[in-house]
Amino acid sequence: MVTVIVGTQWGDEGKGKVIDYLARDCDIVARYQGGANAGHTVIANGKKYIFHLIPSGILYPNKICILGNGLVVDPVALLSEISGLKKRGINLNRRFFVSENAHLTLPYHKLLDQIEDKKRGKGKLGTTGRGIGTTYTDKYARLGIRIVDFLNEKTFREKLRISLKLKNYLLKKYYEEKIYNLEKISGEYQAYRKEIKKYVIDTSFYLNQAIKKGKKILAEGAQGTFLDIDFGTYPYVTASNPIAGGACTGLGIGPTKINKVIGIAKAYTTRVGKGPFPTEFKDEFGEKIRKLGNEFGATTGRPRRCGWLDAVLVKQAGIINGLSNLAITKLDVLNSLKKIRIAVGYHYRGRRLNQFPNSFEFFSQVKPIYEEMPGWQKDLSGIKRYQDLPGKAKDYLKRIEDLTEVKISLISTGPVRQDTILL
Ligand code: GDP
Ligand code: IMO
Ligand code: MG
Repeated sequence: MVTVIVGTQWGDEGKGKVIDYLARDCDIVARYQGGANAGHTVIANGKKYIFHLIPSGILYPNKICILGNGLVVDPVALLSEISGLKKRGINLNRRFFVSENAHLTLPYHKLLDQIEDKKRGKGKLGTTGRGIGTTYTDKYARLGIRIVDFLNEKTFREKLRISLKLKNYLLKKYYEEKIYNLEKISGEYQAYRKEIKKYVIDTSFYLNQAIKKGKKILAEGAQGTFLDIDFGTYPYVTASNPIAGGACTGLGIGPTKINKVIGIAKAYTTRVGKGPFPTEFKDEFGEKIRKLGNEFGATTGRPRRCGWLDAVLVKQAGIINGLSNLAITKLDVLNSLKKIRIAVGYHYRGRRLNQFPNSFEFFSQVKPIYEEMPGWQKDLSGIKRYQDLPGKAKDYLKRIEDLTEVKISLISTGPVRQDTILL
């Protein structure tokens, strides 16, 4: 039984909270793409955790957590996260595994990511600076270093030597920046190799065996559908496939093994970094929602841009991901509002669009067409059953289902586990 959890907007939908909640009834949680650009928040037993690489199921002492082949893994970020968890009493031994085929993020990937984004000037993407795009670029350029290469010191050194030849040329001659030393990196990474070695396995084999044995697996997506390299608001996207299809390529499991896909949607919309955002609040209302929703990046601390729910986007996410269900998060953030809007279509130069346009030119110029609904103006805390929600909150949820053509199966009304309604 494999359930894929995917973001339906621009990331930060509350995937961490929902995954932690659902993980209770699962055996394995496996991340399938991205890297330390993710920031998944879980609040459990009064403590707050932000996971960048480690899957959001790790807080249960008996769950297996996996980083699949689709990831880009920065050993520095990974080891600092592991040691942080150890300090907080969370033991990962024999229940945390990393794929041999995942790609390694090295210091020059991070530096080049930051330099290149700055050089874009007005066209800056606002990346997280974690070396994500540059590591995936090397993967596709057949210049990448995989974890399995890293484990063999000789292979690592040889691959690093070739890579550094190119990177240092670029850094010195083009960017006039510092260059990297082979001996220094290979020396430093020797210590990392020793630490990481014990976690490395063939995760695709492991997961397929687990599926055979009837284990329950959650495939954890990072980022979201509109940050997808193929289906997002290109070029303002990340460098991987957060969409549900990415779970197959990023974990090495066949499409016939996926039983369910749950899309996570915030009750409104946020985006961090640059790129078009039709329903974005342009006035002080944005500040108000940012405060109410505590919308600050979990990885970079940047204030998140806020806006109304865009049902055109979530409907498109339903199609691209083949969603079985939706989980609506942060409904409580809208508690105090008198009126709530939902974008149901767009105007583009006098024409109505009912669908997400692939053209960046179109999407950056569309004006949302809104429907307005009355707010419920009630506190949702403590509500455990759908039928106990205020009528106007139910109307809002029902309208989301109608517009997106996807049934809601979970509602989150607060950041902690208890604030969850299962339908
Ligand atoms: P992710 O990247 O999709 O895992 O989401 P983030 O962790 O980056 O951002 C979601 C933020 O909202 C975190 O601070 C969560 O603790 C918080 N959160 C999640 N669900 C809810 C909810 O239903 N209500 C409120 N108020 N906060 C929530
Ligand atoms: P989670 O998993 C929100 C955004 C960055 C930038 C763009 C490209 O927590 O939802 P990258 O560093 O990936 O090359 O940056 O993507 N971005 C995210 N936005 N949530 C995330 O992850 C994100 N990961 C990357 O802000 O706009
Ligand atoms: Mg996040």
